[in-house]
Amino acid sequence: MIILVMVTVYMITSNTLAALPNAHGNLSSDMFASSNKCAQCHAITYEQWKGTMHYNAYEDPFYQKEVLAASSDTQGIVDEFCSRCHTPIGVVSGEIPPIDGSGLSSIAREGVQCDICHVISGSNGTGNAPFVVSPGNVKWGPFDDSKSAYHGSKYLELYTTSEYCGMCHYVTHPLNGLVVDDTYTVWKEGPYAKEGVVCQDCHMTSGITKFVANPGRAGSGAKKREHISTHEIVGGNAFIPEVLGEKGYGKMAAERLEKAATLSIDSLQMGQRGDNISLNISITNSGAGHKIPTGVSEIRQMWLAVRVKDASGRQVYNTGDVNANGTVGDAKIYNTVLGDAQGQPTLSFWLAQSILEDNRIPPRGTVSEKHTFRIPDDVTYPLALDATLKYRSAPQDLIDHLFGEKVHEVPVLSIAEMSVNIYEDGETSTETTIPATPGVGILGTATILLCAAHYYMERRKI
Ligand code: HEC
Ligand code: HEC
Ligand code: HEC
Ligand code: HEC
Ligand code: HEC
Repeated sequence: MIILVMVTVYMITSNTLAALPNAHGNLSSDMFASSNKCAQCHAITYEQWKGTMHYNAYEDPFYQKEVLAASSDTQGIVDEFCSRCHTPIGVVSGEIPPIDGSGLSSIAREGVQCDICHVISGSNGTGNAPFVVSPGNVKWGPFDDSKSAYHGSKYLELYTTSEYCGMCHYVTHPLNGLVVDDTYTVWKEGPYAKEGVVCQDCHMTSGITKFVANPGRAGSGAKKREHISTHEIVGGNAFIPEVLGEKGYGKMAAERLEKAATLSIDSLQMGQRGDNISLNISITNSGAGHKIPTGVSEIRQMWLAVRVKDASGRQVYNTGDVNANGTVGDAKIYNTVLGDAQGQPTLSFWLAQSILEDNRIPPRGTVSEKHTFRIPDDVTYPLALDATLKYRSAPQDLIDHLFGEKVHEVPVLSIAEMSVNIYEDGETSTETTIPATPGVGILGTATILLCAAHYYMERRKI
């Protein structure tokens, strides 16, 4: 153990952790403005940001539990590292360590807030928070003609690119370099980067899977523009918003998930009564610019639940239900499995040394699952097959372990649903639906982004 820690200290001081240019604690948190100040003129933007996972990046109770575990597992070595993205002001001001937050100012507790994001004046690369911050009067952003009575404004192209998000949405292990969050690099190597569709197009407009213009004013008294970005930057996390009483963001996350994937059925092999029937169910990542799931993908869970009944309503086949103890029964889980020093699976990415498995679905990629079941001798046709692609932010037993039994139930969301009737002659009739959410269209599969490049050009004319 002592040797491990010494090696760790050596590696940490000698390379990766030096990467945050302002990490020396030579700034002070009172050089940053509270988001409340920005709200005076950017009220809409403020309301959109408040309650998001950026707003909650530090106070997030799940993060709080995990960072204390990480700190204790590594004798405090990762304290500064973890805090870089979750409380960037806490790090650049040297208020962390201590990791228990006892030295943190209220501004640092604002997490990924307005001022830290808008005083980023440059970047030294990708991942592990390589941003350069220049706190003060000037706010950097996407406009080259912006004027405000309160602050100076400067255009920086970085804000309009995925490289901006990639500073924090690409995480490598601080000691061994293992890639533990590949969101940025998967996007970069995938089809959307080639088409010029950036993170902001899907996450900072109402388009979800493509850029949609949002005309309006960026601040009080500002001129009307053809597009201003939305700051409701949501992903798939409906769990923590619900825990924190931010139900609106939970609903938005559910809506976003529903645009991420579609299901289809093929290769049906019909058997006689008493024999087996087999078929493939395919899952296509039709709407996300990165793998699904992404981010802390060793913790996220996605799986297919399949249920078949015959015409009399008798259950013929059933997989993927959540059992009474909170585990997922008999289904393939799509996520990343990290291995620790002994090669055993671990959910603690700070202890990871290898990736044992990664079966997530790449952008526009498709995976197929084969399902086989026995047709009862006295079956009544047609068979009704229901397949649902499910998602939850964390395994229930991890949350029970961290917070206590039955304190928080992790919601199970539906990404996509499909119903198929299977007739005796092997004919099928299919209905693909996006799960019903109030206010969202029920029918229809997400159309892919043929016109994205066009929108992109339009947008960049603003
Ligand atoms: C995670 C970092 C991040 C946070 C937090 C953030 N912004 Fe932004 N903001 C951006 C980016 C990136 C853009 C440019 C998006 C684009 O043009 O595609 C932007 C654009 C803007 C603009 C230009 C007008 C517009 O909306 O396009 C204003 C004004 C602005 N932000 C103010 C704020 C305020 C006020 C807050 C806090 C309530 C805030 N931002 C929080 C990253 C952030
Ligand atoms: C007194 C009102 C006022 C306050 C307070 C204010 N802003 Fe602004 N801000 C404006 C106006 C007006 C604009 C111009 C918008 C435009 O050009 O469309 C602006 C523009 C911006 C831009 C766009 C800059 C660019 O070049 O793209 C950003 C980013 C921004 N503000 C961030 C902030 C942040 C962060 C805070 C809080 C620290 C803040 N503002 C506080 C009024 C204000
Ligand atoms: C300063 C670091 C930082 C920057 C820059 C940043 N993010 Fe984040 N982002 C975070 C952190 C930290 C979280 C997670 C907070 C948590 O879950 O506790 C997060 C959460 C998110 C989520 C919610 C994820 C979920 O599971 O629901 C989305 C979506 C997101 N960011 C997109 C973006 C996009 C798009 C950009 C670029 C415009 C961006 N972020 C820029 C640090 C950052
Ligand atoms: C083509 C649209 C699109 C693009 C481009 C895109 N995303 Fe997403 N993103 C989505 C959708 C849809 C989801 C919901 C499915 C999911 O959770 O993976 C999502 C989810 C997320 C999540 C939550 C992940 C999870 O599984 O819990 C994060 C974090 C995120 N995106 C960040 C980014 C960043 C950073 C970029 C740019 C490098 C980006 N996204 C580019 C559409 C997009
Ligand atoms: C380079 C930036 C960065 C660093 C460093 C970082 N994180 Fe994160 N963290 C993120 C982003 C971005 C997300 C959101 C990804 C998503 O939602 O899937 C996140 C999400 C999380 C979550 C999930 C929160 C939720 O509500 O679901 C936990 C837990 C977490 N981080 C813990 C840690 C710990 C512990 C460390 C240090 C060992 C750490 N993080 C270091 C950027 C970072």
